[in-house]
Amino acid sequence: MIAGLFSLARPFLHALDPETAHQLTIRSLALLPPVSPPSDDPRLSVRALGRLIPNPVGLAAGFDKQCEVPDALLSLGFGFVELGGVVPRPQPGNPRPRVFRLERDEAIINRFGLNSEGLEAVRVRLLARKGRPGVVGVNIGANKDSGDRIGDYAACVAALDGLVDFLTVNVSSPNTPGLRDLQGEAFLDDLLARVSEARGDARAAIVLKIAPDIGLDALDAIVATALRRGVDALTVSNTTVARPASLRDAALARETGGLSGKPLFAPSTRLLAEAYLRVEGRMPLIGVGGVDSAEAAWTKIRAGASLIQLYTALVYKGPGLTADIKRGLVRCLEAERLNHIADVVGRDARTIAQGDFD
Ligand SMILES: Cc1cc2nc3c(=O)[nH]c(=O)nc-3n(C[C@H](O)[C@H](O)[C@H](O)COP(=O)(O)O)c2cc1C
Repeated sequence: MIAGLFSLARPFLHALDPETAHQLTIRSLALLPPVSPPSDDPRLSVRALGRLIPNPVGLAAGFDKQCEVPDALLSLGFGFVELGGVVPRPQPGNPRPRVFRLERDEAIINRFGLNSEGLEAVRVRLLARKGRPGVVGVNIGANKDSGDRIGDYAACVAALDGLVDFLTVNVSSPNTPGLRDLQGEAFLDDLLARVSEARGDARAAIVLKIAPDIGLDALDAIVATALRRGVDALTVSNTTVARPASLRDAALARETGGLSGKPLFAPSTRLLAEAYLRVEGRMPLIGVGGVDSAEAAWTKIRAGASLIQLYTALVYKGPGLTADIKRGLVRCLEAERLNHIADVVGRDARTIAQGDFD
């Protein structure tokens, strides 16, 4: 029903500038009466992040930045929802316009710059839903003008532990100058140690989210550091600063910011497969970037993802996509007579890392 309503509204929303359309979408979701999410096929359940997650299809960070509608998003059928990015003190982000739809490429470029109402506003909202069902996490970052970036992440963890199931350490947003430098080994080691210490008794799972624009040496160091520091999952990947030559919307492609959607699928999935080959089953991977169909989700899982997330395809295909992907994953399992989605994780990592997705 909800998916149908949004399909009807899509032409109207796409006639508006992308940020206004998004604000309207969030306001509409906030008005929806609470409904329980549909129950999922048990073959799709995933044990990760210290939880039994009913299906592997998650909502990626950036959709509900101010943590306003987690329960409405869960009711769309996502197995888990990542809210945020959130930073400790309120900050406006970059001037508008700061998000662009590359319609012909089924892509988005954004340079929001972690616009956030700040930790306190978000903490109050999450406190109000404490104890409700559904796997929910928050993506955390540092203020643009922070003198102690690592302290910012630790402050977010200390304030939100106990209110959410997982916290994603975002060291990969391209729109906060210097943030991605925290992916360097020495910084990352210190950051992950401080984040882990900052947790209270609830001990939310810690997830690390990386950029697609890193070399394999950097990936080696990130995986080793994450494993040493007991990170619970690695998310591959954030948006890219690269501009593939194949982009058709050439004028918009020149906008500064992170590119997401279809053109991100191949590079982020190759990096995911490379990460899987290094992790060797020691922590689960969350595959993000250009998932727009059951086939794309199946490829991410074959590349090594235990869980997947999406954002940009929702803008182009609407919220019915989540149910379509789940149905399609069950069909893929049945076609191969497999009992569980876990049987597929990483099966083709070696060939996908070489760029062969078939
Ligand atoms: C408008 C927009 C805002 C985003 N904001 C965040 C953010 O705050 N933190 C973060 O880690 N990723 C953010 N992302 C990245 C997404 O979570 C995701 O990693 C990326 O878009 C690739 O997935 P997709 O191709 O399915 O969109 C944002 C993406 C978009 C399009």
